Amino acid sequence: MAVTSVAIAAGTTWLKDYLRIPEQRALVEQCRAFMDGPAGGYVPTVRGGGRMRVRMVCLGRHWNALTYKYEPTRADHDDAPVAPVPEEWVAMASRIAHEAGFDVEPDLCILNWYDADGRMGLHQDKDERRESIEAGLPVVSISLGDTARFLFGGSRRREPIESLLLESGDAFVFGGPARLRYHGVSRIIPGTAPPELGIEGRFNLTFRKY
Ligand code: SIN
Ligand code: MN
Repeated sequence: MAVTSVAIAAGTTWLKDYLRIPEQRALVEQCRAFMDGPAGGYVPTVRGGGRMRVRMVCLGRHWNALTYKYEPTRADHDDAPVAPVPEEWVAMASRIAHEAGFDVEPDLCILNWYDADGRMGLHQDKDERRESIEAGLPVVSISLGDTARFLFGGSRRREPIESLLLESGDAFVFGGPARLRYHGVSRIIPGTAPPELGIEGRFNLTFRKY
């Protein structure tokens, strides 16, 4: 299937079917290894005591769910050190950002696993360095496995929210004027992963520059 590039708003590019099945399979294997490996996936508890509805592994820098700060070890969980982002992932994310008109080399990746009940509340990605956010350096998101209903709002919580179905192999980039737009995942649609991937659930990778 051909890649379709949809610019849905200023600073936002949706590259549908960006990754072919063999690339998706290879990525899924790597994601699985991170999730199930030492210092693997865990369910973060956020400020106020709520448990997130994803399993998370951070690469490059750890996002602390209690302080909303990035740090070298998982201080809010097991204090394990964070593995670097694989070089080929950095290259892939830079290439995707470039296709969306951005010049950036991401240095951190948050890998999330959603099972059939997985979701993520509406939020902004604003814990990276102030310089990165002010420069509008983009967030590059890659979806693998089951389709997600992705919510994409404005820069304020009360603005209208669009919902998009992110499918396996899609890349979604938001930067520039869209960098601080609210977003989240309202649900996963079980049984929609390409059968070749052999997964029930969804991996999402978001790359950013700290
Ligand atoms: C996130 O905002 O961190 C994840 C978004 C997604 O899973 O598509
Ligand atoms: Mn986010």
